[in-house]
Order: sequence, then structure tokens, then C-alpha cells
Amino acid sequence: MDEQILTLLREHAPEFLSGEEMSRQLGVTRTAIWKRVGTLRNSGYNIEASRRLGYRLLQSPDLLSPAEVRPFLRTRWIGKTIHYFRTVDSTNAQAYQLALRGAGEGEIVVAESQEKGRGRLGRRWFSPPFRNLYLSVILRPKIPPHQASLITLMAAVATAEAIEKTSGLHPMMKWPNDLLMSGRKLAGLLNEIHSETDRVHFVILGIGVNLNTDERGFSKEIRDIATSLKRETGKAVSRKVFLQHLLQTLEKWYDVFNKQGGFPILQAWRNWAQIEGKQVKITSFGESLTGKAVDVDSDGALILETAKGQRKRIVAGDVEYTKKETRGVRS
Ligand code: BTN
Repeated sequence: MDEQILTLLREHAPEFLSGEEMSRQLGVTRTAIWKRVGTLRNSGYNIEASRRLGYRLLQSPDLLSPAEVRPFLRTRWIGKTIHYFRTVDSTNAQAYQLALRGAGEGEIVVAESQEKGRGRLGRRWFSPPFRNLYLSVILRPKIPPHQASLITLMAAVATAEAIEKTSGLHPMMKWPNDLLMSGRKLAGLLNEIHSETDRVHFVILGIGVNLNTDERGFSKEIRDIATSLKRETGKAVSRKVFLQHLLQTLEKWYDVFNKQGGFPILQAWRNWAQIEGKQVKITSFGESLTGKAVDVDSDGALILETAKGQRKRIVAGDVEYTKKETRGVRS
């Protein structure tokens, strides 16, 4: 009912709408409306109440709830169903369970905080409340499992584009899916797939973007290696607007992937990553390799050239650029 109350108030803002009219339109008592308005106020909505005139909405909080995200969401199919949590173990874990129970392509899970936010390679993802974005998208691409890495690169491109649109920052992309700014991590992606040998059943696209965490908001362990849009630009970002943009860019790039295949995704990723010729150190399955990055393969694997001139394909691992490179705000 909260979403319906907000819709009515938004339609009438900045005017008042009487409690009587609201109760008539929603088919509930005036007391029920009054109680719900109380709960909305507790969640951060500034709603003025007047005995004579009724209620009017003065300001909405920056929440990632369906009531806040849906009204200005300009997508055709991603995010039409939003599973929203104040707190959750991990949005990826929730999305995975939902997908197993048949949730459809484009359904999303968002949370204001995560208690066990998952990072790559078994790491934790720092997930404090009401600061950042923790998103998981359920996709059901008709592809064999070895192409799933292309979906990761696609999501990295879409996330970088959403960051650039909302902040003007041009993040650096690190294979396979880190977005960095001034050498520090701004966003990370964790994609989990469920498949059989020949066919993917679903992909959970997990995206974490540090939006409004201040320098001191990061735990000591990651303060020097993590950053946020706010830390980089000095300005707070509207999280719901960021989410709306990100869902739009994801929809655009996923449509490109479905219609045109992996080639345009790889091209876009190459443009963002500028990986060719960079000296890298790769840790993959406990082994360390150094060399020069050559390109990404048609399935998204990294091609590395060792000092001896041997070419190697890396399908998973952690990359470190051994020559420091930073990028700043695009002028
Ligand atoms: C990484 O760089 O290690 C990947 C981090 C991915 C974090 C996101 S936050 C939303 C989604 N839910 C999770 O538990 N993890 C991903």
C-alpha cells in the first residue's frame, strides 16, 4: 500500500490530498492511511499533515525501494520486478535462490546493506547501509557456459558507462571486471552461473558500486585500496538515479549482446580497458605469471605474452598492473 500512497501523493504534489480521498481511492480506512503515513515518515519521507487539507509530500529519501526506483525507471524489461531488502546476506545469494525457483529474466535484487556481501575468489564485499549500490540481476542468456565471461565484460562496460553518465568520471577497467579510479577500486562484479554442459540456465550478475562512502567510512583495511564516486568528485550521488541509469545501460548492452553477439561487447571493453601492451602480473589458481597483456580473446579470456614470447590464455585470476597508471576526471 505504501507505493500506492506515494503514487497518489506524487500525483498531487505540491498540493495536499485529503485523507478521505485517499481512503476512497485505495479502499481502506482513514486510520489505515494515517498509520501508513506514519511508517513512511519513519523511513525518511517528509510528509506534511494538515487536519483540514490532508497530506502532501515534501521530500522523498534516497532509497533503492521499488517506490523510489520505479517511477523514473526508463527500461523496457530490466528491473520491472524489484526484490528489495533493507538488509540481506548477499543480493547474489538471494537472486540465485529466486532464479532456482523460476524468477524471470530481468528481475533484480537490491539491498540497502549486505551482511555477507560476496567478493570474487571468496573475498568479502564491504557493504555498509544506505551508502552504496548492491545489485544482482537475473539473466537467462541462450549461450553455452564458455561464453558467460562475455556477460561479465558486458556488465563491466554498462557499469563504467553509468558511472561516466552520472559523475563525469572515466574509470579504468581492469580485467576481468574491476573498475578503478586513481588506482583504487570503485566497483566490482561477481557473476555466478548455473548451467549444464551445453547450456546456461541463468546468470546472476552481481554489481557493487561504491557511491557515497567517505574516506573514513571505509574500514581501515581497505581505505587505501577502495574509493567511491563521492570520494573522487567531492559530491554525493543520488543512489536511486544511479541505479536507474545502470539498469538502462545494462539493458542496452545486453540487447546488443543478444542481437549482435560478443564482438561489439569486446570492442567496447577494449576501448574502456586499453589493455594492449600493459605490463601485468597475474595470479591464477595459486600460480603467478608476469608479462605483457596482448588482448582479450573472443570468449573474454585474457591473452598474455610472457618475457619469452609465449602466448598464454588466462580464463580466471587477479590482475595487477605493474606499471602504475591513474586516470582522472575527464575535462
Ligand atoms: C569483487 O570485485 O570482488 C566483486 C564484488 C561484487 C559485489 C557485489 S555487491 C552485489 C552482489 N552481491 C554480492 O554478494 N556480491 C555482489
